[in-house]
Amino acid sequence: MQIEIDQQRLMQEIDTLATISDVEPPAVTRIVFSEQDLRARAWLKERFSEAGLSVREDAAGNVFARWQGARSELPAVATGSHIDAIPYAGKFDGVVGVLGGLEAIRALHRSGFRPARSIELIQFTSEEPTRFGVGCLGSRLLSGVLNPLADDSLRDRQGDTLKTVRMNAGFNGELSTVRLPQGFYSAFLELHIEQGPILDRENITIGVVTDIAAPASFTVTLEGEGGHAGSTFMPGRRDALCAASELILEIERLALSSGSRNTVATVGTCEAYPGAINSIPSRVKLGVDLRDTDGDRRDMVLEKIRHGAGEISQRRQIKVEMIMLNADPPASSSPRVLSAINNACSEAKVSSRQIVSRAYHDSLFMSRIAPMAMIFIPCRNGISHRPDEHASVSDIADGVEVLARSLAELSCDT
Ligand code: GLV
Ligand code: MN
Ligand code: MN
Repeated sequence: MQIEIDQQRLMQEIDTLATISDVEPPAVTRIVFSEQDLRARAWLKERFSEAGLSVREDAAGNVFARWQGARSELPAVATGSHIDAIPYAGKFDGVVGVLGGLEAIRALHRSGFRPARSIELIQFTSEEPTRFGVGCLGSRLLSGVLNPLADDSLRDRQGDTLKTVRMNAGFNGELSTVRLPQGFYSAFLELHIEQGPILDRENITIGVVTDIAAPASFTVTLEGEGGHAGSTFMPGRRDALCAASELILEIERLALSSGSRNTVATVGTCEAYPGAINSIPSRVKLGVDLRDTDGDRRDMVLEKIRHGAGEISQRRQIKVEMIMLNADPPASSSPRVLSAINNACSEAKVSSRQIVSRAYHDSLFMSRIAPMAMIFIPCRNGISHRPDEHASVSDIADGVEVLARSLAELSCDT
């Protein structure tokens, strides 16, 4: 099959989407259900309809664009990713999987291919945890991993619940209707930039993702005693930020000494109260991200962090509370979907290697309800979540061709 990717149009679309943002290009900030996110969604839905796809949305704001197959009674093959972007992100994270998925469908259509199983493109809501503290909201709800009651318990910084925010954005249904049954899709594939250095360093075009690492995140609130920075003597202070500093270094030490470089831990946020230079911090809230390719090893490190926090708490007379936000198991790709990607790489004559995803993706949750695999393309120096994130036109086009060929094979697999 001859497949021509319209590189020029795809790159123009990526650039246009990047301008629908709260900050100036090349940086992109697009927080879920913000004004810019809603504008981007509207623009995308026009692109989906223009391509002849039928569009529906669910109560969580996930968008589904379907190319009806000849055997539309069979479960569809799905692909997709996200368009929300963390503050000062780049323009490729997630977007390559959504606009690339659209171009894969258009390219297949132009080639004369007609699917047996329908092909569905999904734009997932809030892959990034920026607004509600938990990542992959849309795919968690689709796969039944997140209880719909989270509608009332998840809140943004303003204190607004998920329910209020999504309803204000026009998504009015019940969250309990979002979940899809096992077998709703026959396969799920996601095209994404690697967000790591391996493909770029080895000059390989396609990473065939065999596994996705297990992510966990939690907050730690440390409560001590505040006071005047000048008139409180040092002995006997219960400075919450000093205790938090010890804990931050303990988390780093525990991740470094797990026995594997696959254990990674990051304290990404630290809020000190009352936040005045001449006041002893009485309360500190840390946001911690802990991941491992091995879920059991991650949980062992988590236990050690808990123990370390308890020890610091006792010694410094600081109250410590740890609240888990998520602790998800890792996912393995489906041999059948991997085989379709490998065949596609041979047909497209592009270099490939197996790779593990250390970032999480909506695919982690889609794997709960459908056979899943991912296609990675290189990003320059492995940089992502930064305005200078970059993927080359030719790598994007090759990734889209591999996605298109994989979708074609899987849609004919009846
Ligand atoms: C996804 O954005 C991640 O943090 O892995
Ligand atoms: Mn991201
Ligand atoms: Mn992403």
